[in-house]
Amino acid sequence: MQQLANEVRKLRSKFILSEAEMIDTAKKFQRAMQAGREGKGSSLKMLPAFLAKPTGNEKGVYLAVDLGGTNVRVMIIELKGKGNYKILDRHAFPLKNSQKSYDFTSETSSAAALFGYIAERIKSMVAPNSFYPLGFTFSFPSRQTAVNQAVLIKWTKEIKTPGVEGEDVSKILAGALDDKNLHQVVPRAIINDTVGTLLTASYRDPCTDIGSICGTGHNSCYVEPQALTSGEVINMESGNFNELPFTSYDTRLDKQSDIPGEQCLEKMVSGKYIGELTRIILQDFIKQNLILNNNQSDIFFSPYMIKAEDISLFLADESSELTGIFQWLQNVCGASGALLEERITLRTIASIVVTRSAQLVAASYFGVLQHIDPRLERKHSIAIDGSLYEFTPGYAAKLEVTLKNLLKEKSALVTLKLTKDGSGIGAAVAAALGDKGQLND
Ligand code: GLC
Repeated sequence: MQQLANEVRKLRSKFILSEAEMIDTAKKFQRAMQAGREGKGSSLKMLPAFLAKPTGNEKGVYLAVDLGGTNVRVMIIELKGKGNYKILDRHAFPLKNSQKSYDFTSETSSAAALFGYIAERIKSMVAPNSFYPLGFTFSFPSRQTAVNQAVLIKWTKEIKTPGVEGEDVSKILAGALDDKNLHQVVPRAIINDTVGTLLTASYRDPCTDIGSICGTGHNSCYVEPQALTSGEVINMESGNFNELPFTSYDTRLDKQSDIPGEQCLEKMVSGKYIGELTRIILQDFIKQNLILNNNQSDIFFSPYMIKAEDISLFLADESSELTGIFQWLQNVCGASGALLEERITLRTIASIVVTRSAQLVAASYFGVLQHIDPRLERKHSIAIDGSLYEFTPGYAAKLEVTLKNLLKEKSALVTLKLTKDGSGIGAAVAAALGDKGQLND
């Protein structure tokens, strides 16, 4: 057991960042923002959203479609002005369903099938004789030339549907709506989910100038104070940031992923990958006979078998005997009789991975804050949406404490806010802004 304790200690020192390392990462992040803005080589794409922040007085009924992972969400939202809104109807539709044997996210699907399905789902929710301006949240790196045009640069989050990369996604959607005779649905704006989150929060709180997703994927956007069109929102695609303290485990995860060398920050922090990182570490510990000797369960030896939900289960288990983890090992992995030390190790590894995630995200926010307000003189709200932030036990608190420690005496100026459904509601706000023709030429 002494050897196990030593290996856990080594793992912690490889993963957990010192304050100096976080500040260094933040500086690199800030430099990458600047380089990206100037069109110099940078891992940050810095994509203009062709939108500025709302006034809070936007009004009307809008249709919001949110495509960002393995579900498409459709909402009908009434913006009431003065920062108030009401969700009139909402449904989430899975893009893959093993029982019904379809998967619109796989390489065997097609753009027509994916968008035809989305249009069909929209049809199931709209009345034939009403008019619906549509805001479309499309949460993948896309180059925009106007508020209602966006060409997908590359799929992320292991989505593989052919025929979409390099295409104008809003055109594909408009074509699919046409095919279903949905002429009452008129696309007005297409946005990234980070932008949606920023718009939703700033509809209520004008101090919001950073929007971020900590969910299946990770990315942030911000309001650029020095933009030609001042106040322009920039989608950084920060999940692609790559000047980072990688460990050998990160390298292993990256190599087996769909897009090696890309989305490096995302692969170290987001919900899609924290389970996988934990699994890779556990597999290594098992192979070294440090824990769960000779356990050949598929869970530890096949990619992506440990999910963010499992990580939440490990971290939520605060019982003295870690009975939740004991049952998980027994029921899911067939590993009966795991020792308490082994259960503690499982929880500790998950906690190390999650802590580093919060540290790296905090460092990136610190970098953005220094870019937009170098002397930290103003109030800033950071709007955050996503399952990792909302549901992982302790994650939101860790992120906040880490960022506040970096901000030191300025910490009171910065507020972090869970912005539930931000990506969807923001689509309605964007459609309202698009209606006014904001920044769209
Ligand atoms: C991925 C996408 C990005 C999105 C993020 C969160 O990083 O590339 O566009 O904002 O996931 O969903």
